Amino acid sequence: MIGKLNHVAIAVPDLEAATKTYRDVLGAKVSAPLPQPAHGVTVVFIQLDNTKVELLHPLGEGSPIQGFLDKNPSGGVHHVCFEVADILAARDQLKAGGARVLGDGNPKIGAHDKPVLFLHPKDFNGTLVELEQA
Ligand code: CO
Repeated sequence: MIGKLNHVAIAVPDLEAATKTYRDVLGAKVSAPLPQPAHGVTVVFIQLDNTKVELLHPLGEGSPIQGFLDKNPSGGVHHVCFEVADILAARDQLKAGGARVLGDGNPKIGAHDKPVLFLHPKDFNGTLVELEQA
């Protein structure tokens, strides 16, 4: 069902410092910070040859990653995103297999303007999984 790894998202307490680490220490191509108010985050994209890393930093009140940073003050891997060809078919298959879909179960438009769903970390070895329709 799952296809390519679309991105790994890392929540960071200091976006500038994290961007510097990827750019200057790891020698990666990094984007400018992109505020995404609808998602409560500012994102820096790290473009790799085969996938992306997204650095996430809270934006505004009630950011969805604030709680994660409260528990992980130095940051950490927040989620992994896999591509699927048909997100509704994937959802139905996962639900039939007993996996829990977060929210109301309907895809939302994600940070890349494509339909996404999140799956409960307890069903995937403690890892929050995002599915994105490719
Ligand atoms: Co994501």
